[in-house]
Amino acid sequence: MASSQERVVAVILVGGPTKGTRFRPLSLNVPKPLFPLAGQPMIHHPISACKRIPNLAQIYLIGFYEEREFALYVSSISNELRIPVRYLKEDKPHGSAGGLYNFRDYVMEDNPSHIFLLNCDVCCSFPLPEMLEAHKRYGGMGTILVIKVSAESANQFGELVADPITNEVLHYTEKPETFVSDLINCGVYVFTPDIFTAIQDAIMQRNDRANLHRETSFEFLQSATKALLHADFVRLDQDILSPLAGKKVLYTYETTDFWEQIKTPGMSLKCSALYLSQFRHTSSHLLAGGGDTRCATIVGDVYIHPSAKVHVTAKIGPNVSISANARIGAGVRLISCIILDDVEIKENAIAINSIVGWKSSIGRWARVQGDGDYSAKLGITILGEAVAVEDEVVVINSIVLPNKTLNVSVQEEIIL
Ligand code: GTP
Repeated sequence: MASSQERVVAVILVGGPTKGTRFRPLSLNVPKPLFPLAGQPMIHHPISACKRIPNLAQIYLIGFYEEREFALYVSSISNELRIPVRYLKEDKPHGSAGGLYNFRDYVMEDNPSHIFLLNCDVCCSFPLPEMLEAHKRYGGMGTILVIKVSAESANQFGELVADPITNEVLHYTEKPETFVSDLINCGVYVFTPDIFTAIQDAIMQRNDRANLHRETSFEFLQSATKALLHADFVRLDQDILSPLAGKKVLYTYETTDFWEQIKTPGMSLKCSALYLSQFRHTSSHLLAGGGDTRCATIVGDVYIHPSAKVHVTAKIGPNVSISANARIGAGVRLISCIILDDVEIKENAIAINSIVGWKSSIGRWARVQGDGDYSAKLGITILGEAVAVEDEVVVINSIVLPNKTLNVSVQEEIIL
């Protein structure tokens, strides 16, 4: 049991418009952290998981997007969860540890005993209370959520070697060229406030090194000056975690549940499916029910916004989420899709493995489809905002940028 004096805060790193470029064209309209997965903004999933943390005082979102982009969401989610959620804007990117350090006074305002730090673009079940318990047992400065992945895919992430008995992190390398371990960093952490001392020490050591080089060698003058200019840019993985491995301060908590990184639109479709299936256990009221004769036919996990109009003869699912004010016509078939706000899908059209952008329309008997290879560049079909696919046109494995009208069929194309 957590003692009543202990307070916990959570920080979610949301990045900014220069990050998440692989998410285009969907990030052209909306900051990537607000893109809907299973009908809820991407950051809604970690935020609602934070609600389960005992004695949670506050949630901070740190990023370098404009404040107004998050204002509406932050106020509505604060009311909904009855936990203060605050957006803190960096004037420029400070890196994942630098961003946290920059706002240390805010984060420490509630005098927390523990600080959760979450990357906004991970999709998992966020076992946060369980992590906190494990962290307290270990008695270290930080605990990292980790997962085992295939040896072939491990090098896309931070690889860790942990002591099998104590779970201490013995070695940490970010995206190594040669295989180190199949245990990877999930981008979800819990720290004691000592994390700020660790970041400060790293900044000071870097400054000392730069000053030393400047005094001892002209050759280093240029690079040392550059290092000083970027002294407040600190990455959590390379600059902080890696040097702390093997020092009995970092530990791991392994999840055997699902975990994915949401870097591309294809992965958002996969993660939408994972969150929809999680709703069965956590928020079944958000899933569309089958069996009602006044309703469309629902197959598997489907989310339909209450303002969307779906014709009774349409067949929807599995893995479909339909956002506000969408209109789905008679005889439409949707499988594995994200349908965004104000979309119109006319009679007898089909969309499979596709993301249909805001205000787009798909004509009668048209077909919009992808193979469903979520990690391939053209593995799904994406229609940007206000794209019109005319009647009977077929669009396969393609990306269509905003405001285009397609009156001929296309396959494996990027329409600029
Ligand atoms: P890639 O480098 O893109 O492969 O992914 P990564 O997730 O390992 O990247 P990174 O360590 O850069 O980002 C981790 C998390 O921190 C993501 O949620 C980013 O949006 C966020 N992030 C990265 N840099 C900054 C920063 O300067 N400021 C803020 N506020 N967030 C950041």
